[in-house]
Amino acid sequence: MGPAGDTRLHTDLRRHLREKDIDRDLTRLICEIADASKYIVNAIRTGDLGMAGTSNLYGEQQLALDVLSDRILRKRLTHSGVVNTIVSEETSEVIKVETNGRGRFAVAYDPLDGSSLVDVNLAVGTIVSIYEGHDIMQPGRNQIAALYVLYGPRTTLVYTSGDGVYEFNMNHLMEYTLAQKVSRLAPSGSIYSPGGQRNLYSKGVEKFVSQLEEEGAKLRYSGGLVPDFNQILIKGKGMFLYPHLEGKPSGKLRLLYELNPMAFIMEQAGGAASNGKMRILDVQPEAIDQTEPIFIGCRKEVEEAEQLIAELG
Ligand code: F6P
Ligand code: MN
Repeated sequence: MGPAGDTRLHTDLRRHLREKDIDRDLTRLICEIADASKYIVNAIRTGDLGMAGTSNLYGEQQLALDVLSDRILRKRLTHSGVVNTIVSEETSEVIKVETNGRGRFAVAYDPLDGSSLVDVNLAVGTIVSIYEGHDIMQPGRNQIAALYVLYGPRTTLVYTSGDGVYEFNMNHLMEYTLAQKVSRLAPSGSIYSPGGQRNLYSKGVEKFVSQLEEEGAKLRYSGGLVPDFNQILIKGKGMFLYPHLEGKPSGKLRLLYELNPMAFIMEQAGGAASNGKMRILDVQPEAIDQTEPIFIGCRKEVEEAEQLIAELG
């Protein structure tokens, strides 16, 4: 590899954002989140796996790690000077930050997605959605940036600011260096990642999944949205779903913290994201804890899922 290739491979996150002409405030925000993730990695690797003795607004028991990750991120965002509104999956309130008018961004985040997988040592992640202005209850198409950090055997950060998707690796100095501009997804793929209990699937979803299986798709499901999604994004093919279930008509995953940022990233990589009836990014949120069914990945499969759901439910 020539010297030019070397330089490009070692571009760190801040330099990359500068070279892409991302404005100073957004660069600051993304770098603060990246810095926070270094403390979260450390907490995951060495922290207490016990319960915090509290539950979040979905009634889920919070791990000490959930609470710690939430605090780490909240503190960085509050002190960044560029954020006016924060809402986290782990807390039930919208937090307003006083910045003397300097705070330009509203941020929604899931500090430690998949945290119930930490005790079995599977991968987890942090997911962040960013809007300009004060309004957190907007359709996801208005996001100006979205990112996630995947804490796997390696730590990676994937972001979009509406101009393609970029992946960074954390190096031995805990700096994020550019790994690649993520290629566009194939129109259809051969991996499927089906969430929720199969015996609760609707007729349309059952038919869709059976069809994928008949076509020879490979099952790839860990139970963590971030690693399951990342596999499809980085392999450039496949489909993740967490559908509407019997007794759970709006699925499990949260629009603000999980689905909007992932849908923005997926569309920027040439894929699609639907709740089975409409584009995720066009859904107008009505509550901060709103959940939606999700079908996300290659365009052809997302369309097929929508068709079967329209026919069979
Ligand atoms: O927070 C949501 C989450 O942990 C996702 O990471 C994952 O896709 C999903 O829940 C799995 O949920 P369950 O195991 O309850 O079906
Ligand atoms: Mn989550």
